[in-house]
Amino acid sequence: MRVVVTGAAGFIGGRVARAAAEAGHDVLAVDAPGRALAPATARRNWDALPLEKAELDLASADLAPLTSADVVVHLAGRPGIRSSWGAEEDIRRDNVLASRRVLAAAGGRVVVASSSSVYGSAGRDRPTREDDPLAPASPYAASKVAVERLARRRPETVILRYFSVYGPGQRPDMAFHRFAEAALAGRPLPVFGDGRKARSFTHVDDVVAATLAAMSATTPAGTAINVGHPEPVTVREAIDLLGRILGVRPEIESAAPVAGDADRTWADPSRARDLLGWTPRIALADGLADQIAWHRASTLAPA
Ligand SMILES: NC(=O)c1ccc[n+]([C@@H]2O[C@H](COP(=O)([O-])OP(=O)(O)OC[C@H]3O[C@@H](n4cnc5c(N)ncnc54)[C@H](O)[C@@H]3O)[C@@H](O)[C@H]2O)c1
Repeated sequence: MRVVVTGAAGFIGGRVARAAAEAGHDVLAVDAPGRALAPATARRNWDALPLEKAELDLASADLAPLTSADVVVHLAGRPGIRSSWGAEEDIRRDNVLASRRVLAAAGGRVVVASSSSVYGSAGRDRPTREDDPLAPASPYAASKVAVERLARRRPETVILRYFSVYGPGQRPDMAFHRFAEAALAGRPLPVFGDGRKARSFTHVDDVVAATLAAMSATTPAGTAINVGHPEPVTVREAIDLLGRILGVRPEIESAAPVAGDADRTWADPSRARDLLGWTPRIALADGLADQIAWHRASTLAPA
């Protein structure tokens, strides 16, 4: 299949694009690295991506290359709850406007990245299912609800709600990335809030597997699917795990909690199992060790 992957200079998009090419698809990678939250990281990823590439700003460029693709996997956008406050204009542009244009230009199936943040906080008694009410609590989450609404109007579209993705190459603003870099440098770990927030942390290899399955699955138009690990772990528990992996007792530097950051996310992945044949396979202990190995290797690598 001809597959276009947008956001291919990014954390998830780069891995999806490579995996799709390894699976035998004819892949066009699309990104505008200057629009990334961390443009220098995106530029480095982009330059190193060994695939056919088109540098296109999806909010303004001619999107003709998307028309003839069998599948567009739309992962480009401006991620993150914390950085979305005060950046509403960029969020609207790179998430909502860019997605509207991608959904209009694509000729075939579209797989769209959404986020667990559309749910707000999960309860304590059961995991979140796709038909639970949405309660976005930040500009970022609200933009993903808007993207989902646009996506539901289009046939041959599937919405993936990713839950806290981690693993090698994780975005520099994300918690495990900041924790690992601090711990390896012997600095205290910067934690927003008291560490009691719980997340369905999901390894990027599992996320890539779900995304590839969604490219060719048969799903009713506009279906939303949770892509998340079913066992939530608190930030404190994750930090203990990180300490055990590194053989250190991490010191913590607390900062104020982030507005709009849910107390708990908790995925029910049964729809993904039924429609995509997908279940997450990677436990946090193994996945975190994998990410730390990547940080160690990047620290040691010559610039
Ligand atoms: N990482 C997570 O835990 C997570 C969780 C839920 C949802 N998501 C969603 O998954 C997708 C990928 O996330 P990520 O963590 O890989 O983010 P990322 O920032 O690493 O990648 C996003 C990419 O989109 C590109 N981009 C932004 N605006 C663009 C534009 N106008 N035109 C072309 N390219 C543009 C950026 O340059 C960047 O390379 C995003 O839509 C994000 O909202 C991620």
